[in-house]
Amino acid sequence: MSVIEEIKSRLDIVALVSESVSLRRTGKNYIGFCPFHSNTRTPAFVVFPESGTWRCFGQCNEGGDIFAFVMKKEGVDFTQALQILAHRAGVTLKPLTPQEAAEREEHENLRALLEDAVTFYRHQLVNTETGRQAWDYLRSRGLRDETLEAFGIGYAPNRWDALIQHFSTKGVDTQVLMQAGLVSKSQQGNLHDRFRHRIMIPIRDEQGRMVGFGARIVDPQDVPKFLNSPQTPLFDKGRILYGLDLARRAIRVKDQAVLVEGYLDVIALHQAGFTNVVSPMGTALTEEQLYLLKRFTKRIVLALDADAAGEKATLRGLEIARQAMGQSQELVFDSRGLLRWEGRLQADIRVATLPAGLDPDEVVQEDAGKWEEIIAKARPIVVHVMETLAAQRDLNDPKQKSEVASYVLPLIKEIPNPIERDTYLQHLARLLRVDERILLARLPSPRKPSQRRQKGETAPTPTPSPLPPLVQNQLNLEQHILGVLLRYPDLLYRLDRALQEEGLERLSPSDFSSAEHQTLLRLLQESLEQDLLEPLPYILQHLSLPLLEMSEEILKKSDGLEATPQRLLDDLLRAVLQRRQRNLTQQLDYLRFALQEGDPSANPSFQQKILSLTQTRYKLDKALKKVTSH
Ligand code: UTP
Ligand code: MN
Repeated sequence: MSVIEEIKSRLDIVALVSESVSLRRTGKNYIGFCPFHSNTRTPAFVVFPESGTWRCFGQCNEGGDIFAFVMKKEGVDFTQALQILAHRAGVTLKPLTPQEAAEREEHENLRALLEDAVTFYRHQLVNTETGRQAWDYLRSRGLRDETLEAFGIGYAPNRWDALIQHFSTKGVDTQVLMQAGLVSKSQQGNLHDRFRHRIMIPIRDEQGRMVGFGARIVDPQDVPKFLNSPQTPLFDKGRILYGLDLARRAIRVKDQAVLVEGYLDVIALHQAGFTNVVSPMGTALTEEQLYLLKRFTKRIVLALDADAAGEKATLRGLEIARQAMGQSQELVFDSRGLLRWEGRLQADIRVATLPAGLDPDEVVQEDAGKWEEIIAKARPIVVHVMETLAAQRDLNDPKQKSEVASYVLPLIKEIPNPIERDTYLQHLARLLRVDERILLARLPSPRKPSQRRQKGETAPTPTPSPLPPLVQNQLNLEQHILGVLLRYPDLLYRLDRALQEEGLERLSPSDFSSAEHQTLLRLLQESLEQDLLEPLPYILQHLSLPLLEMSEEILKKSDGLEATPQRLLDDLLRAVLQRRQRNLTQQLDYLRFALQEGDPSANPSFQQKILSLTQTRYKLDKALKKVTSH
């Protein structure tokens, strides 16, 4: 039995869920109010003890096993959920390799050291006369005690060895402080405190673990204004979003993340109750940061100051972006770069423009309602670009009109969704007061399908041989689907197309009941959205150890699987349809039962739900018949 199975067998889903959801028994199952969306009128959250799964029949329309429950509730990834539940079940996870253990220990020591530094700097700010100036400054900016405490804000004294002294009394070696990025070496080779006379802002990863500091000047004459930790084993600017540990819950609940440019903006906005706000670390947004954010939401609003927003919409911005895109993975905070990523990440990225000369911090301190208004008015990237450009020009001048069109049309071309593309085209036509057909004629011809897609058409090895018989167990079915897809990732496109042709939805994590399978599918989809690596290496690189083991098992099952692409596809389609059929049967059984029993908790929307599930069921049956007769 794998650890994952063992944990599942040891934990009772009803007991686990009951800790945070009050459940009532109905027949074999349990029902309560869904903890993931706010609704206190109609209970729609059902736990199925037999299969060890749960499902929300209301707004979320999601479900899964205990791992999926913990992931969603705690906002953690699969590995962390595994740790939480292993602990609860009293199951020991497989020991790490010596190398991994050493690395983990080093990281933990560094983190402990940084935590200690947080306490030291905080003490200087709160309890000492040296910290007075910084304290007064922070208060003068309207920051309250509890806010400073929540963010762990501190002060580094104006001395070369305050921190070194503090740690030497504790017997900590200065070399280790250097590794942690707290101490620097002078040209003469002397070690000294890296941060002096600065306001210290602890930077934590999304799990709240210390990784480094951002440090702001107190004396306006000092430079640089902000000094960050150097690159250390823990601190990698491109992978961290400031404030995410405190923001991630709100980001999930609101299903929206707001990105601002400064640390102090994040702090002030949180203080004002806008807790879904994070910022990059004074550098351009990176692909990794977007992927990180995407784990919590796909709806991202960039709150840019007026200058930057204007500038980044201009041709100069576009040109820089194009160069940067070719050279590095750094994602430039600019329209073309962002649009690409929006498509690739299937995210919804919008731009909110701040009033000229004001930081988010100043806006919100003046009037919290104003901030809300600004965010609510965030516009899709393309609309933002066209309106900014239009505002800078005289649209009565045909030359300038034409100029705007030639900036914006290539952007519109990038949009993968034809409906969106059309809407923006109409918008541009209205804005420029020209006939849409003229713009349409100027729209550059659509992009050629990407290489990968073409590869997908001519999938695997063409030596026909019998396919393994389908195993009738749900989890085996899931493993079978994933096994084939891991081997032939490009088949996912064809599978999705085949499903859509039958009026069915694309393969999604909700087709799988176990969290590890859901996670694997997500990763598979992600691997096809990026083009840094081939899909399989990408997936393997991003898997944590327990999932890696599971994937190896799964891969083994599809070992020696040789068939024509068409047969593979048919087989895959059949497996997915069967899996869905069972999923639907379980849901329909429950809903009918709830209604028949006259269960008062069976809410009116259940009728509708039954209707729509029955329709899907009909389509499923039809598709299954078709693929079986092949
Ligand atoms: P800002 O100058 O807007 O900082 O730079 P801020 O956070 O709003 O701080 P206040 O309100 O002026 O006190 C925005 C971000 O750019 C990075 C920091 O991450 C900062 O939060 N930055 C800025 C640097 O990394 N180095 C610098 O010298 C300046
Ligand atoms: Mn500011």
